[in-house]
Amino acid sequence: LAVDASADSGRKIPDTLFGIFFEEINHAGAGGIWAELVNNRGFEAGGQNTPSDFSPWAIIGNESTVFVGTDRSAPFKRNAVALRVQANCDADECPSTGVGVYNPGFWGMNIEDGKGYKLILYVKSLDSINISTSLTTSDGLQTLATSNIVASASDVSNWTKVQLELFAIGSTPNGRLQLTTNKKGVFWLDQVSLMPMDTFMGHGFREDLVSMLADLKPRFVRFPGGCYVEGERLSNAFRWTASIGPWEERPGHYGDVWQYWTDDGLGYFEFLQLAEDLGASPVWVINNGVSHRISVSTTNILPWVQDALNSIEFARGDASSTWGSVRASMGHPDPFDLKYIAVGNEDCGKKFYRGNYLKFYNAIKEAYPDIEIISNCDGSRTTLDHPADYYDYHIYTSTSDMYKMKDFFNSASRSGPKAFVSEYAVTDSSAGTGSLLASLGEAAFLIGLEKNSDVVEMASYAPLFVNANDRRWNPDAIVFNSAQMYGTPSYWMQHFFKESSGAVLNPTYILPNLSSQLAASAVTWKTSDYGSFLKIKIVNIGSDSVNLKIMVSGLTHTINSLSSSTTILTSHHVMDENSFLNPTKVVPQKSVLTDANTEMDVVLSPHSFTSFDLAL
Ligand code: AHR
Repeated sequence: LAVDASADSGRKIPDTLFGIFFEEINHAGAGGIWAELVNNRGFEAGGQNTPSDFSPWAIIGNESTVFVGTDRSAPFKRNAVALRVQANCDADECPSTGVGVYNPGFWGMNIEDGKGYKLILYVKSLDSINISTSLTTSDGLQTLATSNIVASASDVSNWTKVQLELFAIGSTPNGRLQLTTNKKGVFWLDQVSLMPMDTFMGHGFREDLVSMLADLKPRFVRFPGGCYVEGERLSNAFRWTASIGPWEERPGHYGDVWQYWTDDGLGYFEFLQLAEDLGASPVWVINNGVSHRISVSTTNILPWVQDALNSIEFARGDASSTWGSVRASMGHPDPFDLKYIAVGNEDCGKKFYRGNYLKFYNAIKEAYPDIEIISNCDGSRTTLDHPADYYDYHIYTSTSDMYKMKDFFNSASRSGPKAFVSEYAVTDSSAGTGSLLASLGEAAFLIGLEKNSDVVEMASYAPLFVNANDRRWNPDAIVFNSAQMYGTPSYWMQHFFKESSGAVLNPTYILPNLSSQLAASAVTWKTSDYGSFLKIKIVNIGSDSVNLKIMVSGLTHTINSLSSSTTILTSHHVMDENSFLNPTKVVPQKSVLTDANTEMDVVLSPHSFTSFDLAL
């Protein structure tokens, strides 16, 4: 392998090349990165008509001691459903547990010894109340934290917001929140929220999961979908205006593509905040009036266009603008750095898309000329019939095909819009539920994107997350449950590319007879201490080891072998995966590269992805 590291032969890779795509799929957000522990906190998941199904809330007590149902007495205009609890027992007539309800969260709440939890709820009663709030084990038998709400009738005759802090004195990954009483009478509950006090940067995200994203150093966050943006029907699509403002007042919605309820605690504002917290550019995928089944005609689309303009004003307008003031009231007076808008998701062939797209494009460009617009139509092989800054490209395929796709963009048009590969993954049986083999095909593909980064400016794996209790799509980059998580090899593979965005791509040459088995690239970047690194990455997708000579020319600095290293992603078997039991079976292993030099004889393990990081 020849690497030309001379300064004048390199080409800068776009600053944005590698980012992440977050979709609300597989409970990635609700019951995932959004740290809310209560599932169906507003009792709206069963629909706006009552009586409704208030599950997963469940009753503590029996038919003679308690009656629980829903009515529409809540104080919030857009989410009127509340829970009515009628206790029919007093003191020692009640079971020792008391009577009331519990919420098991999203397949169990992770309660951790010594940690604090903020409980907020709205309550109303015509009588005095004495409600015990507690965090318990899944059977309710062991109490891990408790606090009482005691109030006179006059205190709670109108809906009253109660805030408590609960401190856990034990741990369980499968806990629940109980709200019980030993006092005869009726009370109503609404908007019951339980959040850990420690969240990522204090903004409501699960620290462990979002740290895994931060570790990837993503340059952009595409959100909130995917198909989630479109909906099977428009009536069930994500609507940004319903997802902003005080959390209690958000109506929530049923995402009919991935088939679960979300209370929209993770809304448009929170997505923008997440991108900012990760130091990444937000890529806002807007609904352009096109869902899987229904499309708004171009003649009727203008209100949707205005809605998109409003969403941009919400993100970027100053605090005196109509929508910018709403953002400011949510605690972010400064604008968010929104520069990318994707008009729809996978909608190119759908009825009215092209007509609608042009309306959005023209209106957004007129109001915000600097915003870059992403079309759903593939411009890799044909010239688009409409203006765009980027075309969206999605690829889900087999490992062998993904490996070959490393050359796909070699023949993409060099003029016209740039490519945004916003969804890629190996998805056939070679991926298992996240195999080493799949990650090698994907690594080769990304090497191809680096080499074609004159025309490919952005790329992200899909999907990012799966809650193992609700696997709607397989495979995914990060697998989690209430308390555990691990990266699949596809997640770890992306770590090899985290310095690439904004780095310099150095030309590499590999013998043609090796290219069906090896894919390689080299990038150089400067470190903060005036040093620099040359990273040479090589995928060996074959089942044989390969003896390779690496020859680096054009270096103007000497190699510091003490600071040089090599990192390898491989395993005993090509179909090996990580799991909750063995989360680090297939993860990068780093070691010192003692013989770092301009000429190195290396042995590439079978089925491996190796980087040689030369400190300069
Ligand atoms: O990533 C999963 C789904 O795949 C996305 O929602 C959609 O855009 C694509 O079809």
